[in-house]
Amino acid sequence: MVTVEALKDIKAEATEWRRYLHENPELDYRLQNTARFVVEKLESFGISHIEAGIAETGIVAIIKGGGGDGPTIGLRADMDALPIVETSNKPWASKIPGCMHACGHDGHTAMLLGAAKYLAATRNFKGSVALIFQPAEEHGRGGRQMVQEGIMDRFGISRVFGMHNGPGMEVGTFAICNGAIMGSQDNFDIVVKGKGGHAASPHKNIDPIVIAAQIIVGLQTLVSRGTDPTKSLVISVTKLAAGQNYSIIPENVEIGGTVRTLLPELRNFAEQQILASAQGIARAFGAQVEVEYHRHIPVTINQVEETNMAIRAASKLVGSASVDERVGGVMGAEDFAFMAEARPGAYMFLGNGPTPACHNPAYDFNDEALSYGIGYWVNLVENGLSA
Ligand code: NI
Repeated sequence: MVTVEALKDIKAEATEWRRYLHENPELDYRLQNTARFVVEKLESFGISHIEAGIAETGIVAIIKGGGGDGPTIGLRADMDALPIVETSNKPWASKIPGCMHACGHDGHTAMLLGAAKYLAATRNFKGSVALIFQPAEEHGRGGRQMVQEGIMDRFGISRVFGMHNGPGMEVGTFAICNGAIMGSQDNFDIVVKGKGGHAASPHKNIDPIVIAAQIIVGLQTLVSRGTDPTKSLVISVTKLAAGQNYSIIPENVEIGGTVRTLLPELRNFAEQQILASAQGIARAFGAQVEVEYHRHIPVTINQVEETNMAIRAASKLVGSASVDERVGGVMGAEDFAFMAEARPGAYMFLGNGPTPACHNPAYDFNDEALSYGIGYWVNLVENGLSA
């Protein structure tokens, strides 16, 4: 087992890596410089089995333990930044206009590199570790694509673990729960097709704006009246487009929105009822409606055994009092969900201290959290693959 004190030197290096990545953020799949940086570091640690170019700029690297044969566990970090203008004013603030690491993926990458350096030097475990560096998490696509490109089978990964920093959680603390920890994300588009005409003679038209307003209100009642109040469903209308002139009732209105839940069965409910509600309301007014429902990211579900492995690894590092084992699920979606669908897994939150929230322009990953994240990864491997 490693201690936070024993990671002092690696933390200092990881801080440099983290700040370099923070200054040089890249978006979605276009992570050429970031991926090159990660591969160079992995090579410098003496890791020879590195495969780059998975899902365009993703990387998987294998470290074989010194304790003989055993299973392979996957540790995943995301590498991409966000299209936000940074306002942190830190000396290492982004040098790329309109692009910044506002979700701490620079810290996630640096922590997995730190763990890689330690594990490659010590190899005090049996079996192997697969280090998974993924692109395009913010799109919700990179994780799925790496799974589709067969990383679980190709590298023989039997379990998979993810970690995300948590602003507002004290540094040196962890939080996890068994079951659903991050929500699903589905999006929908509705087109209300009325009959346009002069605004002064509404009786000669079918006004899609009034119908759209009723549909939007109707969607609210799917949650407040149609869903068990002890279960969580969010339906938010986030897009609305109609009309361009004071005197013209338009032909069409476009409505767009998102659905979030921690319960997979509520995705089916939302899909069916959004369609039924929009169709019913439109029909009552003599309008037509088109509804498209797009399933984007599934619920991230932690499995019992992997959750317990994660709790043990964190507890050995910081003590069980600093590990919240029953944190409530978060409605935000995370494309680690695709990896946790492919293999049993667990997703952990790591305290980032009192920083601004993720996706805020003043956000910055807290370097004090680095040694905790590195220590967690190391303990997970040395504990989960004990030689
Ligand atoms: Ni993130």
